[in-house]
Amino acid sequence: MTGPRSNKAWLRRHVTDSYVRRARDAGYRSRAAYKLMEIDDREHVFHKGDCVIDLGAAPGSWSQLAVQRVGPGGRVIAVDLLPITPISKVSVVQGDFRALDLRDLVMAMAAGRVDVVLSDLAPNVSGIPLVDQARVAELVELASDFALLVLKQNGIFVTKAFHGGAYSDLVQGLKNRFGEVAVRKPSASRGESRETYLVCRAPKKL
Ligand SMILES: C[S@@+](CC[C@H](N)C(=O)[O-])C[C@H]1O[C@@H](n2cnc3c(N)ncnc32)[C@H](O)[C@@H]1O
Repeated sequence: MTGPRSNKAWLRRHVTDSYVRRARDAGYRSRAAYKLMEIDDREHVFHKGDCVIDLGAAPGSWSQLAVQRVGPGGRVIAVDLLPITPISKVSVVQGDFRALDLRDLVMAMAAGRVDVVLSDLAPNVSGIPLVDQARVAELVELASDFALLVLKQNGIFVTKAFHGGAYSDLVQGLKNRFGEVAVRKPSASRGESRETYLVCRAPKKL
């Protein structure tokens, strides 16, 4: 096939492959590390000594990057339904972040309010667009509840979201909960055209 559609497919594959190669060479577990790297380079999410909670962390590339960026004085707690092969200087909790006992455990591990909550959570896809969009929106809302509960006054919440039916409601919901919401589309994410990231600051306390 020639023409714009095949060019688009070629570009998507090329971008994806080059980040996969870079991730493998740099020792990151997934190319998703480059999405967060680009967001942090622009938004300055991480600071030395920060305490970070990474929701939906498996296989672990965001946690790997977070550890590097917060330095030896920082802390990273990674949460996922799936097991995560240990990462140096990352505390791993396996389970559903929505479970109250897991939340209590993570908050006890953090021992105080945290600087950054990351959410790259993705549900199992059903293939039915309306169902999948609703599942994603629910995860983002619950992750933002969690973030509001645990974040410091100047804390930051970074979440993945997908364009679709509920997207504008979802962004508006975050704007109701955070003083500032920036929409970012890292180039490492170009392949997945519906995916964007929202960087939310100034949590409004519940
Ligand atoms: C796209 S992956 C995350 C990739 C990760 N950021 C990285 O860089 O390696 C999404 C993850 O969300 C996890 N997840 C989905 N729902 C969850 C839930 N309710 N509690 C904990 N983890 C969940 C999935 O198991 C999956 O590993």
